[in-house]
Amino acid sequence: MPKAVYPGSFDPVTKGHLDLIMRASRIFEQVIVGVLENKAKMPLFSAEERVKMLEEVLSDCDNVRVLSFEGLLTDFVHMVGADTVLRGLRGVSDFDYESQMAAVNQDLGSVETIFMMAEPEYSYISSSAVRELASYGKDVSRYVPCTVSDKIQEKIKKIQEKECVHYEQPH
Ligand code: PNS
Repeated sequence: MPKAVYPGSFDPVTKGHLDLIMRASRIFEQVIVGVLENKAKMPLFSAEERVKMLEEVLSDCDNVRVLSFEGLLTDFVHMVGADTVLRGLRGVSDFDYESQMAAVNQDLGSVETIFMMAEPEYSYISSSAVRELASYGKDVSRYVPCTVSDKIQEKIKKIQEKECVHYEQPH
């Protein structure tokens, strides 16, 4: 199969995402990882930081490219010359949202969605759980690559220091 776009927020990329990308890279000629900028969602990492982290951990995969995008996924898919979107399913709980999104993308831009099941060992990992655990000081290196886990710790530390300074200012 020629080219698929694997879109997401990747805030941050998890071992579950990486497993899916690796498996997809053996099926598709090229996998484009599309990082949604989504400033309205106030991501922990900027789009540039998320792209850089993904590029670092995927540097050995010759047929995987990482790009950021804004706006509609179907426009991005057409822009990069693909017609297939790849999404991972961790279980039935993902299915409702994903099937709706697949139908919208099919309707909007004739874009097909192919689903791959997450490996059972990654089926409970999500970026939001990783962010929450890290904000409570928990080690998240079981869920994300170690370079990413270091960056999360740095980022959370910076945010907490900033909040502390901000809070202490009026006194
Ligand atoms: O990792 P996520 O946050 O589950 O990824 C969701 C994503 C980026 C795939 C989805 O929000 C998306 O495609 N956003 C772009 C806007 C869009 O095209 N919306 C229409 C589809 S409902």
